[in-house]
Amino acid sequence: MKIIKVKDYVEMSEELNKIFVEQIKEKKDSVLSFTTGGTPYGMAQLFAEEINNGLDISNTIMMNLDEYVGPADGKYTVRKWMNDNIYGKIKNQPKEIHLINSDAKNKAEEIERYKAILDKYPRDVQMLGLGVNGHIGANEPGTPFTSELFVADSQESTIKATMNLFDLKAEEAPTQMYTMGFKEIMAAKCVVLAASGKAKAEAVKNTIEGEISEMVPASYLRNHDNFIFIIDEDAASLLSK
Ligand code: PGA
Repeated sequence: MKIIKVKDYVEMSEELNKIFVEQIKEKKDSVLSFTTGGTPYGMAQLFAEEINNGLDISNTIMMNLDEYVGPADGKYTVRKWMNDNIYGKIKNQPKEIHLINSDAKNKAEEIERYKAILDKYPRDVQMLGLGVNGHIGANEPGTPFTSELFVADSQESTIKATMNLFDLKAEEAPTQMYTMGFKEIMAAKCVVLAASGKAKAEAVKNTIEGEISEMVPASYLRNHDNFIFIIDEDAASLLSK
């Protein structure tokens, strides 16, 4: 595990962006997998700017970690987030974009379709945010470390976080998510987890200093050979060293 300590959200976004940009500069046909939400928002703005300033992504494959289950026009979908924050803002598109279909009629088939994409394109970098309960993707506490791409039931804290982020009423909030399991997350060559703010401090402490446990999903990343954890001062505030 490599820990990068940064001052605040702005510096965290810069570090995240740097990892993606350097990866593309080194290997034009990189396969990059994004996450959405509050954590990567700042990074996405920087990344889009970088592309519009000439970063060549014409051979790059881009995909995502997860997707809500819900209508295609739901304001919270990962597809919309990626479009609003990256794909809709850039002048040149990547070679391929892969996303899960939130409204797929047959969930099992959708899982198989996306699994085949993951098999075809081994990922160079997987970006992750950290849930306040230690989750990664929608692998909530208690999810077995053997999980593979699946539809997860979100825990209350996750549903509330989504409601806050998208200003949703309880009845509009998605309660299920397609998510890569531990298997697919660990299969990426490099896994980058980022955490900012006091709300994440407990989860950061448990991830780094606690036991590797299914009750703290992110703790499992310590078993990955190339795991980078970017933490800002507030998120690091409960660490003992
Ligand atoms: P956030 O969420 O990036 O919106 O804080 C992270 C997560 O809950 O996975």
